[in-house]
Amino acid sequence: MPKVLVQFAHPAFSRSRVHRVLLKNCKQLEGVTVNDLYEQYPDLYIDVKREQELLLSHDILVLQHPFYWYSGPAIIKQWLDLVLEYNWAYGPKGYALLGKKMINAITCGSGHHAYTSEGHHQFPVSQFLLPFRQTALLCRMDYMPPFIVYGTHRMQQDAIEEEGLVYADILSGLASGRIRPEHYGGLEIINSLGHGAMS
Ligand SMILES: Cc1cc2nc3c(=O)[nH]c(=O)nc-3n(C[C@H](O)[C@H](O)[C@H](O)COP(=O)(O)O)c2cc1C
Repeated sequence: MPKVLVQFAHPAFSRSRVHRVLLKNCKQLEGVTVNDLYEQYPDLYIDVKREQELLLSHDILVLQHPFYWYSGPAIIKQWLDLVLEYNWAYGPKGYALLGKKMINAITCGSGHHAYTSEGHHQFPVSQFLLPFRQTALLCRMDYMPPFIVYGTHRMQQDAIEEEGLVYADILSGLASGRIRPEHYGGLEIINSLGHGAMS
């Protein structure tokens, strides 16, 4: 069965509404490991060996975090910079992550319309996520459609709980092998598989 590694990063988790629910749900899932980066490395000194071993022992890498300045919180960048080493993750001497999968799981304060050509942010989130997508491709990983929760600023608790159920269903579907590329290939966001996805 594919093993799922959730690399979680939230610098203000005590104030979180959405990731609190997403994380609570996925912590209990079989085949899913949660690695809380700010909890592990509050000073940003990342244990590269530990992180590389975690990657090697999993098949699907989930980068779960709030969308911050059209990207991720600082520790996500620090993790990418340090862990995806030359001649380990890419380069003439090796592609350690070859054939593994990567997916972004993000929450956006703004609604979907803000990420259109008429909206406040002008471009779709998929364009802001291009550095992640291309990082995966450079490491010869498969980049999956992202999980995106839009409009968190105005979200009611019941809608947050619903997103939490969808997220948990998708992660458990991936970890059980029920959700496969033919199910999500071509989707804009993997959320479209919905609650009860492939169960
Ligand atoms: C420093 C910072 C930067 C942010 N940048 C963005 C952004 O670029 N786009 C966006 O839609 N929301 C942005 N937000 C809003 C967060 O994404 C939103 O508050 C978060 O997803 C809510 O999740 P939570 O309840 O788990 O904290 C930003 C928030 C902060 C604090």
